[in-house]
Amino acid sequence: MTSAATGCLYGIGVGPGDPELITLKGARLLRAADIVLTPVGARSEISIAAAAVATLLDPVRQSIVEVVCPMQSDEVDRDGRWSRLAAEIAVMVQAGQQVAFITLGDPMFYSTFLYLLRELRTLTPTVPVEIVPGISSVYAAAGLAGIPLGLNDETFCVVPATAPEADLEAALAGNGTVVLLKVYRAFDRLRALLQRLGREQDAVYVRRIGLSGEAVIRDLDQVRREDLDYMSLLLVRKQS
Ligand SMILES: C[S@@+](CC[C@H](N)C(=O)[O-])C[C@H]1O[C@@H](n2cnc3c(N)ncnc32)[C@H](O)[C@@H]1O
Repeated sequence: MTSAATGCLYGIGVGPGDPELITLKGARLLRAADIVLTPVGARSEISIAAAAVATLLDPVRQSIVEVVCPMQSDEVDRDGRWSRLAAEIAVMVQAGQQVAFITLGDPMFYSTFLYLLRELRTLTPTVPVEIVPGISSVYAAAGLAGIPLGLNDETFCVVPATAPEADLEAALAGNGTVVLLKVYRAFDRLRALLQRLGREQDAVYVRRIGLSGEAVIRDLDQVRREDLDYMSLLLVRKQS
């Protein structure tokens, strides 16, 4: 645990969007933070993270700063925005401030926080960082749909729908549950793949967990265009 006199960057997972699904530790550190960085971007998930913690924050006592984050998936920080942000955070932390950066779900799982962490580690490896796990959308989806993620010797696999077709197919050839993230733009392609593999009946579409418009759709025929949302995933598990 970092002492109160020393600055620290906290990467805090706020869960899938339901304000009650943040950990006690995450909530405590958010309340105690001097500066709370709330990433904003083109995608809805970002403002959802800020909305999920709104009741924990005190805009009078705390400095709440919106950070425009590039949502690129590249390995390279092309426009240098993450490295500039990392440098600014390093200055805040070295001045003794407690800085919280919130992220939807878990910070170590396909999260924007990972771009920041990479730049910070490169720039100033000694700046204290503490990562507070969050409940991932994957776990929340399993609970909501009542679908086990793993049992006995089964495998459990998570694949972004943006992965190459061969990787998706390899995952779906396993004996356990597969979770496909970021499915909204790839839905038709995924559906065709599931049909080809004879797995369409095994797939459940889960959208906007813990948010308005939450839905679990067990028949892919019932997924309408307007159901396709960035905040959605597919759980695929053999029917028992
Ligand atoms: C960039 S990943 C972020 C994952 C996040 N760090 C986590 O732990 O859940 C974004 C994808 O996670 C899934 N996702 C995140 N929150 C969700 C929610 N509340 N409902 C459904 N899917 C969600 C969607 O597949 C979305 O496209």
